[in-house]
Parts: sequence; structure tokens; C-alpha cells
Amino acid sequence: MQVNPQQLLDDGFIILRQVVPPEQLDSLRASYETIVERQHRRWAGELDWDVPVAMDYKSKQPRVVLNAIVDAATADTVDFNLHDHTLGVSRQLMQAPEAAPTAMFFMSNPATDHGPDPWHRDAVGRRLAPLQGLQADMLANAPGYVQWNIPLYDDDVLWVVPGSHRRPNTAAEDRQLAENPRAPLPGGVQVRLKAGDGVVYSNLILHWPSDYSTKHRRTIHLGYRSFGGAIFPYSTHFYWDLGFTKHLSPASRARFERFAALHAQERDHIEAFFRAILDRDEAAFRSELAVLHPGEAERLVCVTLLSRLATKLHELTLPEIASLPHNDQSKAVGDQRTSFYLLQDMADRFSAAETDLLYRRFAPLEAQTDSVVDMPDSYDVEDFIATWRNSD
Ligand SMILES: [Fe+2]
Repeated sequence: MQVNPQQLLDDGFIILRQVVPPEQLDSLRASYETIVERQHRRWAGELDWDVPVAMDYKSKQPRVVLNAIVDAATADTVDFNLHDHTLGVSRQLMQAPEAAPTAMFFMSNPATDHGPDPWHRDAVGRRLAPLQGLQADMLANAPGYVQWNIPLYDDDVLWVVPGSHRRPNTAAEDRQLAENPRAPLPGGVQVRLKAGDGVVYSNLILHWPSDYSTKHRRTIHLGYRSFGGAIFPYSTHFYWDLGFTKHLSPASRARFERFAALHAQERDHIEAFFRAILDRDEAAFRSELAVLHPGEAERLVCVTLLSRLATKLHELTLPEIASLPHNDQSKAVGDQRTSFYLLQDMADRFSAAETDLLYRRFAPLEAQTDSVVDMPDSYDVEDFIATWRNSD
């Protein structure tokens, strides 16, 4: 399946027909129904599970974490996430040599009517770089992360404001959202998908889950990140580990082993990047930054995202967080339980003293990038280097 990366950059989303090959639709529906049944038995306490992850049937959007429940009989659900129509298209759109699924979820309708959810963008907040930085980085280079909805039955739940992934909210949008965040926005369009169609989008786009009612819903929800593309993705973590791959065919397992190896390689480079800052080694800093974010434009966004990571490492050393149970630690630093092992791996690479020093070295950059929306006007990577080049 061929797609045009420019269309995603222009509109923020692309609707694709028959992402699920028609001859696979029935079998995929059957496998997912088995999975939903097993998930319900787990929620009811009838089946054990290793990692209880998923938003349960009482929530507004019951969500299955596929890797936490898949078995050999339903492994075609995972294989579909490696298909040319999903992984292949994602890789094309991110213009990267490789790509990997980060999140493999499945959304169902709730048991009771929860009505519409508010309009929002997914990737906003103090844990990430300012929104305009993420947008500029994507537009100057390529997306490093794309998200999908692929319904197994017709699904019109999602609305988007085309082009809003390129800009912050307008004053008019903010006014209307303050008044009523659960009504159609001017310029908003409803994404009408037939069974097996898909929408792939930048989750920086303003979007609206318009209907969390009891209407039958069975929709695959995926996230993919790039490896080796121009950009350091703002969503890097996997919501899976290799444990579940014992249920897969050897060929599929090998694909996930490759993704894990790519992630491990990236963590080695992040460690080297942090050590360059600790050692005040400007040359190493520059060369590691060029590996993590090959695109020369908007590299400050990458440094900012890694600064946020350094903040998390620092928070994990604080007594009030270090003393929490494992699951609460991940929540306290804004991480997901299923990806926390990757953060833990990074934390284990540094002593408390190093983590503390790193945190202090990033403090001037943190002060410059503390807006949720705006990047600093006149501050760049050179200014950041200057703050530690000659420090103690
Ligand atoms: Fe969302």
C-alpha cells in the first residue's frame, strides 16, 4: 500500500480503505472477540494475569492491551500489526528505515452510555516539549510517531480538525472549548470509517471522541514510532516487553526482537548523550545528538525531550518516590506500568550523584522550556551547551 507522507503533514490524518484485507476481516473479528471475552473473564477475576493492564468495562472506553492477553490461537491479531498496511504504511509516513509498534490496543464500547469525551490533543503537557516545538520538529523533519484507529465494524466516533496538528489552538477554539468541550468545533470533520478501513493520524491534531455510548464498537488502536528517521520521537516507549512473544510464530517473534534491539541501541546512545553532558564533553554531545536527531533543524526539541527524561530519572531518586511500590513509582513520574521497565533500565545506568548532577545541568534549559505551548524565542542548542561547557 502506497501513501503520500506529504498528505499527513498537510492534513494531519489520512483515511485508508481496506487496511484490513477483506479476506482477513472475519478471522480478525473472531480472534478479537475471543480476546474481548478473555479480557472480560480477567476483569471478572475468573482468569489470572501477570500484569493487570487495561481500562476495565466500567470505564468510558474499555481498552484491551493486546500483548497482555494474546495467546497462540489469537496471534493473528499481533501479526496484523506487522502488516505492510499498518507497520509498512507507518514507516513510509515517518520516512524512516525502520518502525515499530509502541502500543497495541483494542477499544470497545462501554457497558453504559458515557456520551462524548472532550476535544483534546494527545501529546501535550509538561512531560513533553512545548507543543509548538513538537509541531515544528515534525514539519521540518518528519513525524516520529503515528497513531491508528482501524475499526472491525463501521465506526464514526472520531472527529478531527484538519491542519490543527500544525498549530496551537486558535483563540476562537479556546473560547468554544471553555464553553463546551464536547460539541463539534468549527472546521471539524467526522472520520467515517467502514469495517476494515483505517485512519492514521498525528496525535498532535485536535481530535474528539464524539461518542462513548453503548453502540457496538470494536476498533484496533495502534501507535508506531520510527527508528533511524530524521527525528527523535516524542513517544519512544514500548507498552510491551518480549514476554508475550512466546505466543507468536518464530518469524513474528524475530520482528519484535529486532524492535527491542533497536530500542536497546537507542538507550545506549541516550546514556552516552547524558554522559557527554556529565563529562562536559562537547564533541561527544554533538555527535550523540546527531545520532538521536539526524535532522539538523529543531534539535532543541530532542534535547528538551531528553531533559524531561533526565527529570524522571531524578524524580525516581527522590525518597518520597523511591519508597513507593513499583506501580505507584511509574505513575508518580508519569510513566505507564507496561513501559516502566525501559525507564528503570535507564535509571540503573546512573548513580544517584550522576542523576543529580544531570538534573542540575539541564536546569537552565528547563527554565527556558517551561511553557506547554511555546518554545523559547531566542534559545538554542548552543545556548544550552554554553551553560555547562565551563561549569564545575
Ligand atoms: Fe486522544
